[in-house]
Amino acid sequence: METRVLLFDDASIGEAARQILAGQPVAVPTETVYGLAGDATNAEAVARIYEAKGRPSFNPLIVHVPDLAAAERIGDFETEARALAEEYWPGPLTLVVPLRPNAEIAAIVTAGLPTIGLRVPVHPAMQALLRKTARPLAAPSANASGAISPTRAEHVLKSLDSRISLIIDGGPTERGLESTIIAAAGGPLRLLRPGPLDIDAVVETSGRIEAPGQLASHYAPSKALRLNASSANVDEYMIGFGSIAGDFSLSPSGDLVEAAAGLFDALHRADASDRPRIAIAEVPDEGLGQAINDRLRRAAA
Ligand code: TXA
Ligand code: MG
Repeated sequence: METRVLLFDDASIGEAARQILAGQPVAVPTETVYGLAGDATNAEAVARIYEAKGRPSFNPLIVHVPDLAAAERIGDFETEARALAEEYWPGPLTLVVPLRPNAEIAAIVTAGLPTIGLRVPVHPAMQALLRKTARPLAAPSANASGAISPTRAEHVLKSLDSRISLIIDGGPTERGLESTIIAAAGGPLRLLRPGPLDIDAVVETSGRIEAPGQLASHYAPSKALRLNASSANVDEYMIGFGSIAGDFSLSPSGDLVEAAAGLFDALHRADASDRPRIAIAEVPDEGLGQAINDRLRRAAA
C-alpha cells in the first residue's frame, strides 16, 4: 500500500473523510499527538486500525466527537464529568464514562468494556474530519504498537509507512503529550493517565481525584534509556533540559510546556541517531513535569 502525505486543507479533509467512510483508517493531527482515526460505528474499520498498528491485543480506544452534545449521546455524564467536560472541552482531556447501552459504537472499540473513553479535540483538522464524516472517530496514537507517539507527520510515516494509505500533515502538534485520562464511571474520579492538564486545577473544578491508576501502555524508544543523567557516556545520545545541555535540549530555559511539546520529538531524534543508547537529564517532578516523567519512566522500563 502506498502511503500519501497531504497537507491539511479542505481538499485533504474531504479525501480523508471519503477513506474513513469507506472503512480505511487515516492519520490526522490532534493538539496532543497524531491519531489513527477510523469510524467507531464500523467494527471492520476499527479492526483495520489495530491491524495497521500491529497491536497484539485489543486495548480500548478513545472515541473523538465534535462536542459535548455528541459525547452525551454515547456516554453517561454525571455532575463531575459534565463539569470537567464543560471546563476542558474542546481540549486534551479524555473522560472514561459509562457507555450508553443504545450507543451506536462497535464493541471492538471498547474491547467489550461497559465504559468508553471520549474526547472532544480542539485541533481544526480533527474537528473538520469529525464534522465532514459525521461519525464518532476511534483514534489511538498513530504509531506502530509499542512505539513512541507521533507528534509530526514524519513520525507517523516512519512508523506506519505502507500500512496506511493517508496521513494529513498539520505540522507539529501543540501539546506533544497524549491527553489526560480521567475515569468518571461511578465512585471517585480516577486519574488513569497524566497528560497536558494541570491536575491541581482539575481537582479545583471537580473535587477529589484518586491517585494515578496503572495503564499498561508502552511509550518505548527502541534503545535503552537512562534517566536523571547529568552528562552522557560516549555511546549515549544526550537529551538535555535546563542547565544540562545535550545533543538536543527539551528546553534550554527549563520551560516544562516547551519540554512536553518536544518530548516525543526528542525521543524520535535519539532513536534515529547513530548512538546505541539514550540518556536524559532530570526533569523536575512538578506540574507538567509529572506527565513528562510518567512517559519517561515507561520509556525506560
Ligand atoms: O491524546 C490522545 O489521547 C491520543 C489522541 C490521538 O487522541 N490518543 C491516544 O490513544 O493516546 P491511545 O490508544 O494511544 O491511548 C488510549 C488509552 C489506552 O491506554 C487505553 O487503555 C485507555 O486510553 N482507555 C481507552 N478507553 C478506556 C476505558 N474505557 N477504560 C480505561 N481506559 C481506557
Ligand atoms: Mg498510544
